Order: sequence, then structure tokens, then C-alpha cells
Amino acid sequence: MPKQTFNPVTLIRKKRDGGVLNEAEIKNLIDAYTSDDLPDYQMSAFLMASYLNGLNDDEAAALTKSMLHSGIVLDLSDIPGVKVDKHSTGGVGDKLSLILAPIVASCGVPVPMISGRGLGHTGGTLDKLESIPGFTVDISLDRYKEILKAENMVLAGQTEEIAPADKRLYSLRDVTATVESIPLIAGSIMSKKLAEGIDALVLDVKFGSGAFMKNKDDALRLAETLVGIGEQFGKETIAYLTNMEQPLGFAVGNWLEVKESIDGLKGDGPDDVMEITHLLAGTMIYLGKKASTVDEGIEKSKAAVADGSAFKKWVDIVRAHDGDTEVIENPSQYPSASSIEPVKATSSGYITEMDAFEMGMVSLELGAGRRAKEDEVDPAAGFLLHKKIGDYVNENETLATLHTNNESNMSDCKDNMLKAITLSDNQPDHHKQITHRVDKNGIHDYKS
Ligand code: URA
Repeated sequence: MPKQTFNPVTLIRKKRDGGVLNEAEIKNLIDAYTSDDLPDYQMSAFLMASYLNGLNDDEAAALTKSMLHSGIVLDLSDIPGVKVDKHSTGGVGDKLSLILAPIVASCGVPVPMISGRGLGHTGGTLDKLESIPGFTVDISLDRYKEILKAENMVLAGQTEEIAPADKRLYSLRDVTATVESIPLIAGSIMSKKLAEGIDALVLDVKFGSGAFMKNKDDALRLAETLVGIGEQFGKETIAYLTNMEQPLGFAVGNWLEVKESIDGLKGDGPDDVMEITHLLAGTMIYLGKKASTVDEGIEKSKAAVADGSAFKKWVDIVRAHDGDTEVIENPSQYPSASSIEPVKATSSGYITEMDAFEMGMVSLELGAGRRAKEDEVDPAAGFLLHKKIGDYVNENETLATLHTNNESNMSDCKDNMLKAITLSDNQPDHHKQITHRVDKNGIHDYKS
């Protein structure tokens, strides 16, 4: 291992004792780690010191910058327009990207979108896209730009060239109990998003049982940190806090979610899905300078669904990525799972809880998710909810339908689905879907 030109122990000690590192010091650590000049044990010590003592806004920005420049930063300046992306911190049934990207692109705002795969209880956009026969997400950066230029949007997977430091650091955090740190999460997310060559960003920061951040205060602090970093990089960034106490929409699972997003693009999406979709899309249209207010952006978003232009854009983009447009136009042609069974209520009452985490795990067990990165996913697996929180159900009424090609898991999945749903005689309070907006001016209550 080559000799360091700085002393890592001094920097680790400074962070351990609650000190603040400057940009050059953080860069030294990240550069040395990325080039194999700093061993895992020293980076682990730095991560744990950062986890325990936190990083201030300048340190979080310096960390993001070092990770961002560990790989290439796409230059999209030859593509006209304000390029805007959206990032979600992830959840169960979150198919919003599939609906909002074509809406925003059809309204004239370029959307360069690099997405991830599902892991654990959460789904990933790439797995959903790959459930469409032929759809290719592994494309070269040249092809990425070509599709963006031609279609005003592109959907791709992260390449080795984008923020490689984050990839290595994330794996180390995973095994050193340092994932759940707000500045480390923020640096990780923003380094990847800024590398896409965007001009502005909309963030969907989720809280609740199915989200990364279980409680709202942590989600608010994450949103503030993400927005602060975006603004430090000169990219206008607006975040919304949204509820992930129950799955979004009715469909969970890769193809089932693509099918529900087609319904959304055709004007027949579930209310909870469409409320957040139009807000995020409207904000992207506003940031992309195709509307003078977010409200006007929301109107444009609704109009793009109503006049069919968003669905048309979706068909064009599926074709551009070599996907089969036949099943998009006629989703009933898609081969269903071999085993489809209902889960029935064992008593009557109002649904007061639908544990989104447990339901995400049911989806995984049915075959829609992966436990380890190398696992294969079953595109047809997942479930459809028939009811949501607040609905009244009678004994023996169907709560959900489970889809799988692995029948041996069906019985456990039915039991676990039932356990994830709580019934009561009392109707629960209505829960707000969108609670806050966070932007450069601070935190605002969201009034729908
Ligand atoms: N998602 C990321 O990309 N990084 C994190 O650290 C956590 C969630």
C-alpha cells in the first residue's frame, strides 16, 4: 500500500473527538480509499466516528463532492432544456417514476433518470422496467444521451463509472453498522444524482413502516440535508415528505406495478399514487421552466395524462429501450404467475394498519424481490391489494390476491399477509399522504 501524503489517524481522531474536517481532509480520505491507498479498517473507523458525531452541512457537501468526482459526471449541456430528475428514498409499491417520467418528458422537460434495483423489502425501478420483455437498462453512456436527446427521457441503471466511491463505501457501511446516518445517506444519494448531469432535482422522502426512515423527524432531517447539498451544488432541489405506512397503490411486484402505472398513464391510477405523482411531476415541470408555479405544473401533468400524450411518450420510450410495446398497449397479454390465490379476512372490521415492511417481505418471498444482490427476481410475482387503510371489510372478504411461480411459499405468504393487516371496530383517522415540503427557504407544512 503506497505511503499516505496525509495522516489518516489524525483525521480519524479529529472526527472521533467531535472536530470538523475541511474539504481537503475529506477529499484525502475518500480519494485514498477509492484508489486502495486507505484500508477498510481506517475507513470503517472514520465512518463510525462520522456516524456517532455527525457531519455538518459543509462536511456533508465535501463528502458528496469527493464521491461525485470519484467517477465521471455526465455533461448534458448539449441537450437543450433544464434537465430534471426525481429520486425516491424507496418504499413498497413505489412505481411513481414509471408514471411521472413520461408525463414530465411529454411536457417538454428532459428527464435523465438513473435508477437502482430492489433490495430487501423495497422494490427498484430497474426490476420493474426489466419485467417488460426486451427492455434494456444496461446501455452505454453514448446510447443514454442518444435516447435522452430523441425522447426527452431515458431510464438506465447505474454504471461502474458513476460515483464508484459510493459503491465501495456503501458496501463497507453495510457491514459496519453505519448505514443509518443522515449525512452519509445524503452524500450517497446526492453523489449519484449529481453525476447524472441534472440541473434540478425533486426528492420524495418517505417515512413510515415501509420506508428507510421509520419516523417523520428523521425523514425531515434527511430531506433538509439533501436539499442543503443540492443547493450547495447550485441545483434547485425541492423535497416532499410522503407517507409509506402502507404500500402505495394496490399493486406490489414488478410487472403488477408496471401494469398499475399503465393504468395511471391512462387516467385510471389509484388516488394515492396519482396525488403524489402529479405533485412530483408538477414540481419537475415547474423546475424545468415549463410552468410558472407548481400548481400550473400539476395542471399540465394532469392534462398530459388526459390528452394521451404521457401514455404515448411511455410507448415511445419502451420502444427506444428495445422493450415490447405490444404488452404495454395490451397488458392482458402478459403471462400471469402460475399460482394466484386470495387472502381472506378472518373477521370483520376497519383496516387500521397495513404494515408496509411486512408486506414488502411477502412480495420478496413470493419471488418479486431479492435478499442478496445476485438473486433473480420473478417479474410476474407480487400481490394486489383489494383494500386499504380505512376500508371496512367483512369476514371472508378478499383483502389481497397473491401471485407467485413458487407455490411452496404460498401458504406462509398468505399467513404473513394476514398478520400484516390489523382490523379494529373503530374507523382510523385519515392519514395525510404528503406532510411537508422542504426547499431552500426551509420546511413548510404541505396543504393539499
Ligand atoms: N440509498 C442510497 O443510495 N444510499 C444510502 O446510503 C441509503 C439509501
